Parts: sequence; structure tokens; C-alpha cells
Amino acid sequence: MNEEIIYLGNPLLRQISEPILEEDFGSLKLKELEKKLFLMMEAEQGLGLAAPQMGISKRAVVFGLEHPTLDSIPLTVLFNPSFTALSDETTEDYEGCISVGPLCAKVNRYKKIFYCGYDAEGQLIEREASDLHARVVQHEIDHLNGVIFLDRVSNYHSLGFKDELIKAALYTPRKS
Ligand code: NI
Repeated sequence: MNEEIIYLGNPLLRQISEPILEEDFGSLKLKELEKKLFLMMEAEQGLGLAAPQMGISKRAVVFGLEHPTLDSIPLTVLFNPSFTALSDETTEDYEGCISVGPLCAKVNRYKKIFYCGYDAEGQLIEREASDLHARVVQHEIDHLNGVIFLDRVSNYHSLGFKDELIKAALYTPRKS
């Protein structure tokens, strides 16, 4: 297995990832994948990370945010995750991606979702989420289907480099 982030242009980011098999839950292999994803997310200071971003074509994501002023998102691993929108309401906000680099742009996402998935032991995790929490989950699940946030940009005039957008007071970083 890979130990590095892969970037836009690598065909592995465009693949449909393989589901985790029933017999793999509870295995050392899955615990190691979880640890690897959490360590890389921390190293890259991301809000979330999907296994394909490390060149691992498996349906696994991690996410979470501990922040003094913004709403926190519990540190979570999800294997075989899925979500459904709880209403048609969407919100538009900036997104970026470790595999895309400093480019950010506005993307429309469902405001309120229900999501579920399994931890490494195979325990079901079910939650409702809204706003940034819901956004991160939708962004990470997209990665498992070969979709990058750039595919979903709602307004290409919003596209810009993070530092320039911050200078122009258009974007406030969620993590420093
Ligand atoms: Ni991403």
C-alpha cells in the first residue's frame, strides 16, 4: 500500500473504489488502513481524507475537526459509507482538496444529510449532519466514486488560489 498523497491527474483518483468485504471487518489490515488515513489527514491538516487519495482504491474515509470557534466535527472513520439528503436544500461554500493543492472554489452541497458506514470492527455508525459536517462527508464520499470537487463547482468565477482568496477576504480557512 501507498504512503503518499496522489494528486489530480493520477487516474487512481478517478476510479470507483472497491467495497470493504464482510470478512475484512475486525482485521488488522483494516485497522492499519484507518491509522494510515488518520495520520495522513493530520499531517496534511485536512478536514477529511479518502483512501483513493493515498492511491488505495477502497471505500474508506476519515474526517473530523476540533476547532475552538467553529462547530466541531467528531473524528470519524467510515468504511463503505453512504448518505442521503434530508431535504432538497443546498448551500454554496468554498472547498479545497489535498489532492488538488491550493485551488479552492464554491461548490453546492446538500445542507442536511443522513449518513452511515462502519467502523473497523464492523459496527454501524449512523448520523445526521448539517452544514460543514455534511459538506465534508459529501466531499469524501465523492472521492470513492472518482468525483473531485472541481467537477461540481457551482460558479467558476469563485475558483482561486487559497492565499489570494484569503487576501481578498473571500475565503476564511477552517483550519490553521
Ligand atoms: Ni478531497
